[in-house]
Amino acid sequence: MNFQIFYFTAQLILFCNLNHVAQALFGENVRLVRSSEYPFVTSLLRISTINNQLTETHFCSGALISMKDVLTAEHCLAHELLASLLAMVGLNDFRYGKKYGVAWWVTYDQWTASQRISKTFNHNDIAILRLAHEVHDVTPATISRTITYGLYDLEVVALGWGKFSNGEINPKMNAANLKIITNFACENKVESMLGIKDTVSLRFVCSIAEPEVLLQRSDAGGPLVYNDEIIGINLSACPDPEKQPCTSAVNIHLVIEYYNYFISSVKNA
Ligand SMILES: *[C@@H]1O[C@H](CO)[C@@H](O)[C@H](O)[C@H]1NC(C)=O
Repeated sequence: MNFQIFYFTAQLILFCNLNHVAQALFGENVRLVRSSEYPFVTSLLRISTINNQLTETHFCSGALISMKDVLTAEHCLAHELLASLLAMVGLNDFRYGKKYGVAWWVTYDQWTASQRISKTFNHNDIAILRLAHEVHDVTPATISRTITYGLYDLEVVALGWGKFSNGEINPKMNAANLKIITNFACENKVESMLGIKDTVSLRFVCSIAEPEVLLQRSDAGGPLVYNDEIIGINLSACPDPEKQPCTSAVNIHLVIEYYNYFISSVKNA
């Protein structure tokens, strides 16, 4: 059977209570980033009216990959409206960084349909947002050319925004130090965590925290970085290793090298 990320996510949601109060945010592997360390990491914010007040809520992360394009996970956008989206780029604190409107977005599946290209894979949790204005004061991230096999055992950094113990989102970006494990080791972990025997297809990589301290649930869509280059997009995880049967935390990332043609053609659109 093929590993299906949506199936996996659904299992996680069944097994893990999403409303639990989070534990302390910073373990041995998680730290706040310095203000100008990863300026290309983007916070996706939803504008809404709460108690008659305009509120901006961070809901996912992304990465600036050109002066006007942001790479993120498709599932982040599933319930969003274009007109209520903002992308914050350039600062580690999403309250104070420059915010850009979004002109449009395209998912991999929409792009293959419009180009009449047949899809290589069934599930493609990747999308690109086109900003309404160009970003001139941030250098976009470089995308690594490394594919899955070249990633095993690497120490990588996942970037995004995590939660405080009261469940509120910390407005300061954090970085989690992770290690890439083989897909086989990942399958074994998934099986011992969820009792599901599944194949983790090669365009995903799994990462773990070493030592395996609880990885605070942060967010999806954020980049996985090695040597300052983006190798993947964070998709899902075991949200709470303290809850049975999640016994250890695994993060699943999409390897973006497999989507290079999509990325370069949307960038040039
Ligand atoms: C990756 O995304 C999942 C799903 O939102 C989240 O639970 C997990 O904490 C994220 N991992 C990192 C390292 O950001």
